[in-house]
Amino acid sequence: MTGPLLRVQDLYVHYSTRRGYVRALEGITLDVYPSETLGIVGETGCGKSTLGKAILGILPPRTRVSGQILLAGVELTKLRREEYRMIRGKDIALIFQDPMTRLNPLMTIEDHFIEEIQSHENVSKNMARERAREALVSMGIHESRIKNYPHEFSGGMRQRIMIAMALVLKPSLLIADEPTTSLDVIVESQILEVFHDLKRGYKMSLLLITHNMGTVAEVCDRVAVLYAGRLVEIGSVKQVFHKPLHPYTQGLLASIIHLETKELHSIEGSPPDLISPPEGCHFHPRCQFAQPICVEKDPPLEEFEPGHFAACHFGDKFL
Ligand SMILES: Nc1ncnc2c1ncn2[C@@H]1O[C@H](COP(=O)(O)OP(=O)(O)OP(=O)(O)O)[C@@H](O)[C@H]1O
Ligand code: SF4
Ligand SMILES: [Mg+2]
Repeated sequence: MTGPLLRVQDLYVHYSTRRGYVRALEGITLDVYPSETLGIVGETGCGKSTLGKAILGILPPRTRVSGQILLAGVELTKLRREEYRMIRGKDIALIFQDPMTRLNPLMTIEDHFIEEIQSHENVSKNMARERAREALVSMGIHESRIKNYPHEFSGGMRQRIMIAMALVLKPSLLIADEPTTSLDVIVESQILEVFHDLKRGYKMSLLLITHNMGTVAEVCDRVAVLYAGRLVEIGSVKQVFHKPLHPYTQGLLASIIHLETKELHSIEGSPPDLISPPEGCHFHPRCQFAQPICVEKDPPLEEFEPGHFAACHFGDKFL
């Protein structure tokens, strides 16, 4: 295997609030390899979007950040504003949950594309227009629709347009933050199909943020599970789904199985307040296997089988 495209090392992100610092990420270390799709999962508030925003360099001012984020060897956290702006869009692109928040209702799709391309590359309007048409067609949208305005498209088509815009500059890393959450089930599966094709057609890595384990199973190569700002498990989809080593991952997986059988089952309790999370293992108040050591000692992330890591004092029990 060649080296990673993205390397996140010991990343801490603490948001400054009136009540104190929200410890949204606490020492995250993970790699994303060229052309792979890494899923980031976890319940609401566990830090998924914060990770995406940290990589893109779009955290709010006064946020405390430490650790390293390397893209193809370039340390992103040390970049100046202007340098980061050039990397955003060109090398790292982002797809949001709700495309309307990113599309200007007064601009045609063509204008959006031209603006995006010309802000990063020195190309003529005609050339940019041609690239835009190609990108749209590759997402299954007829080129004649390039003169339309965002509101003239359905939600699923708008998401395809966003993907086309993200891909037009051929980024090496695409971050998709809950890209299908606002879509209905049929459109969602079409968009997931698009991600499938992307993996084949483009040499690009994808960081897919979702709260849906089903989506991960369908699209990802590896999966990282976050809980209360910490990485609690990471491994190949096969490893994590067949042999989840962290009780939190086991709970997430049990939730989807029960949903299929129409039984409403989720992990009891809710994630902690990240201003003052519990001592030791953050999951201990909700964990049925918790022992005294779990309250005292924060479990380190350990490799239990090749490429399969978990942060649980009793991970080997589940091997
Ligand atoms: N700008 C902010 N200022 C203060 N706290 C924030 C800010 N953004 C996020 N947080 C807090 O940081 C924690 C992580 O939030 P984040 O948005 O990363 O979670 P998430 O996993 O993406 O959740 P969701 O599934 O709901 O999108 C949460 O406790 C959240 O309330
Ligand atoms: S370390 Fe303890 S509390 Fe945390 S997940 Fe493992 S068994 Fe549960
Ligand atoms: Mg989020």
